Amino acid sequence: MVFDHVVKTYPKSSTPAVDDLSLTVPAGEICVLLGPSGSGKTTALMMVNRLTEPTEGDIRIGGRSIRDLDPIELRRSIGYVIQQSGLFPHLSIADNIATVPKVLGWDKKRVKERVAELLDVVGLAPAEYAKRYPSQLSGGQRQRVGIARALAADPPVMLMDEPFGALDPITRERVQDEFLALHERIRKTVIFVSHDIDEAVKMGDRIAIFREGGRLAQYDPPATLLKAPADDFVARFLGADRGLKRLTLIRLGEMELNPATANDGALPALDADTSLRSALSLMIAEGAGAVRVTGGTGTTLGVVSLDAVRKAGAA
Ligand SMILES: Nc1ncnc2c1ncn2[C@@H]1O[C@H](COP(=O)(O)OP(=O)(O)OP(=O)(O)O)[C@@H](O)[C@H]1O
Ligand SMILES: [Mg+2]
Repeated sequence: MVFDHVVKTYPKSSTPAVDDLSLTVPAGEICVLLGPSGSGKTTALMMVNRLTEPTEGDIRIGGRSIRDLDPIELRRSIGYVIQQSGLFPHLSIADNIATVPKVLGWDKKRVKERVAELLDVVGLAPAEYAKRYPSQLSGGQRQRVGIARALAADPPVMLMDEPFGALDPITRERVQDEFLALHERIRKTVIFVSHDIDEAVKMGDRIAIFREGGRLAQYDPPATLLKAPADDFVARFLGADRGLKRLTLIRLGEMELNPATANDGALPALDADTSLRSALSLMIAEGAGAVRVTGGTGTTLGVVSLDAVRKAGAA
């Protein structure tokens, strides 16, 4: 998907909500739009499925301008999770999820199976939830139904506006992990709006940082962004702990491991899958100068020192 010098100025507004946005999202990748409130993230998203029209510039999906596509058709081919879940209050959870498949003329059996499958994906037992109405769900559960609904017809493109905003940290982490695992399998092009830097770093193949006035401040993969913020605004936005955030992107198993010696048995042990940030945290908590890295069966693979972690953070 390509944003090509896109400008959006709302009627009666003197300044643009999105100002000269150009960026390319490779097919199958997750692009996170990150930025302060009012910086134009939702507006950028809504132009993709023509819920609002660009004032200038163009957006192309698979080489085709959205201006040449019928808005209704376009919306059917794009899954959209809106900021406040946006379920139809008068429809059951099952009927909410089934909206687009029904419009597309799927037969009843296929629709029913798809609804059950998606409720499972988002961690809501179909027997318990399918027949309820949105008002009978918690905010976080509604949000998960919103995600299931957007996935229903298996669209190639997904727009997700703060889809996990209402979830508690534990559920949030689970749903993020589930979504990433799902994405690994189905490889959709996803534009994902977030306020949360940690979420952006975790979810994004690339992150677009917006600033006031709807201007793009930087567009890069998370590791590049954290290592080399383009300017003071980006550096301040990412926070003073951006070095630590970078460590979340590196696993112990990716480090060069020093062979363990007889004395290293006493070191705290961590699985090779653990991030360097967690490893650093454990070293500080335990007053240890290194950790022992273990494989799936608990065998020691080697040792990573505090100094090596520090260097990886600065590399
Ligand atoms: N329908 C509208 N008419 C006029 N101005 C609007 C409209 N919708 C949004 N705006 C303005 O456009 C700017 C960008 O809004 P937008 O909703 O895209 O921001 P956002 O980055 O999604 O913010 P948030 O993080 O708070 O959701 C804001 O200044 C907002 O007031
Ligand atoms: Mg918004």
